[in-house]
Amino acid sequence: MKFHILTLFPEMVMQGLNTSIIGRAVEKNIISIDAVNIRDYTTDKHGKVDDYTYGGGAGMLMQAQPVFDAWKAITEGKKVRTIYVTPQGQTFNQKLAAELAREEELIFLCGHYEGIDERVLEETVTDYVSIGDYVLTGGELPAMVMIDAISRLVPEVLHNEVSAETESFHNDLLEYPQYSRPEEWHGKRVPEVLLSGNHGKIVEWRLEQAKKRTKERRPDLYKKYIQKEQLIKRLSKDKRNNIHIMESLSRGKGEILYEKGKNVLVYDRDSKVCMITVENREMGEQLLTLVPNDVQLFTTSQGFMNDLICSRFQCQVLHECFQICYTQREPLSVKHKDIRQLTLEHLSYVQEHYQNESAEYMKERILAGVMYGAFVEGQLVGFVGEHAEGSLGLLYVEEAYRGTGIGKSLEAYMINRHREWGYIPYGHVIVENEISRELQESLGLYLQKIISGGWNENIENNACIAGATVVIFECCENEMVLCYRV
Ligand code: ADE
Repeated sequence: MKFHILTLFPEMVMQGLNTSIIGRAVEKNIISIDAVNIRDYTTDKHGKVDDYTYGGGAGMLMQAQPVFDAWKAITEGKKVRTIYVTPQGQTFNQKLAAELAREEELIFLCGHYEGIDERVLEETVTDYVSIGDYVLTGGELPAMVMIDAISRLVPEVLHNEVSAETESFHNDLLEYPQYSRPEEWHGKRVPEVLLSGNHGKIVEWRLEQAKKRTKERRPDLYKKYIQKEQLIKRLSKDKRNNIHIMESLSRGKGEILYEKGKNVLVYDRDSKVCMITVENREMGEQLLTLVPNDVQLFTTSQGFMNDLICSRFQCQVLHECFQICYTQREPLSVKHKDIRQLTLEHLSYVQEHYQNESAEYMKERILAGVMYGAFVEGQLVGFVGEHAEGSLGLLYVEEAYRGTGIGKSLEAYMINRHREWGYIPYGHVIVENEISRELQESLGLYLQKIISGGWNENIENNACIAGATVVIFECCENEMVLCYRV
């Protein structure tokens, strides 16, 4: 990930960002930060970058020319997401941090004085972002705040993968209280449960504490959390059908756009996947009007939604899929022992051997740290992964190793990893994919219902969802979904 900061005070930003975790990530080339001095680009012979505002008013304004030339020197014709840090923008939060962490390159434009000439903002800025409802003297501190929050979500910046997942704001809860040595300080003892060694009890206690703290300190967040929990409970009445929505919510990915009775619309802004379940066509039609324009993937378990979605998003049914989920308590046995997380070193292998998804997507999955490979005598011979919306998939085994149990081991390994992360593993299998179906069955699954999928073919004709893929899952009543035995 590359950060560029357009500023009049480059030394301020560089000093602030080259220590501790962010400094180490820069040293290891996981991220790069370069501060570009806007003043270096002024054509004014006295080095001036600001002037009075037309129409009068207090203070000076940064002029368009130096800002534009500095920006152009970075972008060199490429499209780079450019964030203008301003109190007039949308408020920065953990969700936006996660979204921005998926970009390869970001530009932060820091204003000073009274701001920047509107014309250059119109030509360069993609996002207007504030760090809160107060006014600072310049954009440098907000840019530093955002870069810090984004960087720590970039894969490999934090060593402990789990720490970004369990902390405050993940899943709409603040973090639980934590304690270190000594066991007693100022007469206060560390809660007994944390010394018990009982992992289950500790997890339970931490969740209770996180809820209590959120309720006290952030009632607004707590309300969202409770709404989500209640919806998950309702959806769990038809778990095999709704597992994708339940998991999206419980993993803190999906956002509820609508929920009333059996009508639910959940959107995952990161993966741009929209999940919908409705009682009838009328509700379906109504909920489709709430779907954000940048949607890339659509899932529903109602067959009557197919033509509604297809006509609105100009797509056609493509696949029939089974939804599978694993709800047993025990981990699966993994026979093949050499399975490891993949890194960019394996990118070309993965891209070459998995062509159902774009090369860019495969790279992003590796960077997200969710691709695992099977090695035989040090050679990569197959892999498995997690899709952007959280389902298991991306399974591939080299021809010569098929039928050797490597595919089964990869899938079992991934299922176990998801369980360790506290997820219910789930996935989708295209009906025609006999090999995958056999594999699911050999892992102890059975068919329960059929779901079908479609994809957008006319993307050029539909500007608002350009590049989108639409997948529709249709459940045919009384038929079977491929499910793990419960
Ligand atoms: N510039 C000045 N104040 C700011 C704020 N609150 N957020 C982002 N940029 C700013």
